[in-house]
Amino acid sequence: MPQPKKNSNDSTSSPAANALPFVLAITGASGAIYGLRILQYLMEVGQPVDLLVSKAALRVMLEEHDLTFGDDLKGGLLDYLKLPDTVPLKVHSLTDYGASVASGSYRTRGMAVVPCSLGTLGALASGLTENLIHRAAAVTLKERRNLLILVREMPFGHIQLKNMLALSEAGATVACASPGYYHRPQSVADQVDFVVGRVLDQFDFDNSLFKRWKEDSRPLSQEPKK
Ligand SMILES: Cc1cc2nc3c(=O)[nH]c(=O)nc-3n(C[C@H](O)[C@H](O)[C@H](O)COP(=O)(O)O)c2cc1C
Repeated sequence: MPQPKKNSNDSTSSPAANALPFVLAITGASGAIYGLRILQYLMEVGQPVDLLVSKAALRVMLEEHDLTFGDDLKGGLLDYLKLPDTVPLKVHSLTDYGASVASGSYRTRGMAVVPCSLGTLGALASGLTENLIHRAAAVTLKERRNLLILVREMPFGHIQLKNMLALSEAGATVACASPGYYHRPQSVADQVDFVVGRVLDQFDFDNSLFKRWKEDSRPLSQEPKK
């Protein structure tokens, strides 16, 4: 049975849930843009983030965005996202099992794996901890914090469907990089923001990245030009 989730806005927690760091992992599924856009949003709202990026994710960023980072992943990401180096971002090596996020005693607001490859999905579903992403996700689950994975593949095989069910039963939120169209997206950015906004919703980030059903206002990119 799905485990009860802790409310990420629990006012009895100290420090306040909103001040707790958020763990973001970007793995090697297509759709690096989703992870990059979430990172950009979280930095812009001043949310402290512990970032984990897999080797395969770096390869996908090269294929999809011509991004190369050398030894300075944090600097390269900040440059690309046009963010100042004062933002509350920590980037961890995936082999650093002594990192903060490897321990349940390091309190976090939750963790999202965006996008989540089928490889990482399989590792998480079977409890493997071959890198820091796996370990941080296992910790998030055992501490009963919110864990969301945004899977990207088409179609799904039986094993992957079983892995998604296993993770859902363990308390994770399983999402898919599948934008809606009822908000009439005008651009790829609108479609990305729909998915990103719905991911942020799961962690109670009060975002207006997309037009909600029965909501009057339009997404920013659809506002008439002044
Ligand atoms: C350009 C590119 C696109 C890929 N797209 C996907 C994808 O959409 N979904 C997926 O599960 N794997 C995809 N892969 C394969 C993964 O990157 C590969 O399985 C890798 O081992 C995942 O490792 P990670 O989970 O540690 O990031 C893609 C790889 C490349 C190079």
